[in-house]
Amino acid sequence: MKPFLKWAGNKYAIIDRIKAVLPSGNRLIEPFAGSAAVFLNTDFENAILNDINADLMSLYRYLQKDGSRFVGYCQTFFVKEMNDADTYYQFRKIFNQTGDERLRAALFLYLNRHGYNGLCRYNNKGEFNVPFGRYSKPYFPAVEMAQFHQKIQTATLTNRNFVEVMEMARPGDVIYCDPPYVPLTETANFTGYSSGGFGLKEQETLAEVAKRLSKKGVHVVISNHDTTFTQTAYESAKIISFQVRRFISCKGDARGQANEMLALFGDEEFLVG
Ligand SMILES: C[S@@+](CC[C@H](N)C(=O)[O-])C[C@H]1O[C@@H](n2cnc3c(N)ncnc32)[C@H](O)[C@@H]1O
Repeated sequence: MKPFLKWAGNKYAIIDRIKAVLPSGNRLIEPFAGSAAVFLNTDFENAILNDINADLMSLYRYLQKDGSRFVGYCQTFFVKEMNDADTYYQFRKIFNQTGDERLRAALFLYLNRHGYNGLCRYNNKGEFNVPFGRYSKPYFPAVEMAQFHQKIQTATLTNRNFVEVMEMARPGDVIYCDPPYVPLTETANFTGYSSGGFGLKEQETLAEVAKRLSKKGVHVVISNHDTTFTQTAYESAKIISFQVRRFISCKGDARGQANEMLALFGDEEFLVG
């Protein structure tokens, strides 16, 4: 099942690698849900989807509750006359100013599909500031949204910091963590997901919480870049490394190989099996 949003760092392309190591369990918890590629392609009876991005979670809530009516509303913004720079910037302004939550949620999807590279970036006032994307015919993901609506019915949606959501885990739960990547170099800056940023301190906290929970019968899998920093932070975990072809530069035209890793925190059986 394909996510209906474009999302930086989404794991749809490597879903098979993740599924190969993700254990079964009572409940899936995704503290960094993003476009929810892992939730959409696994079959846990229960799930908690969380992200710190309030616009993302609000969009998911409308889709969960209103289904096809909300999909129809979103589709009204995907017409030829609304695919030009002037309209885009007008809608972006409305998005940033409106108190109408439903309109804001629908415009979040419009901006995601009409904005540059599907980026989601806010300035320090919390305003969405991605430029127009110049796509000849932005795709409206009607089928993907309908599937998402079905799948998300039994999920719990939260909009918190990752630690609070991880603390909700009980023995037998599985947590899949896909935090913003650690930088590959010291100058690279990939913190454009949400105002606030996610630095090395947060990466360390995540590793500590994963380690602690794994001693209480919770299985935790973390995705990240394979760097000396992550190798050290996850030293108590079983590490699986592999290569992925992806964008590694902000310029968008420089592609390259980045080493990716999955760190598995859990009991002996999980780590050996
Ligand atoms: C790499 S993306 C996740 C991609 C997702 N696995 C997918 O397939 O689309 C990282 C996500 O973490 C979220 N995030 C950043 N800081 C966070 C925090 N402190 N707590 C929870 N979520 C956070 C971002 O909003 C972003 O959606």
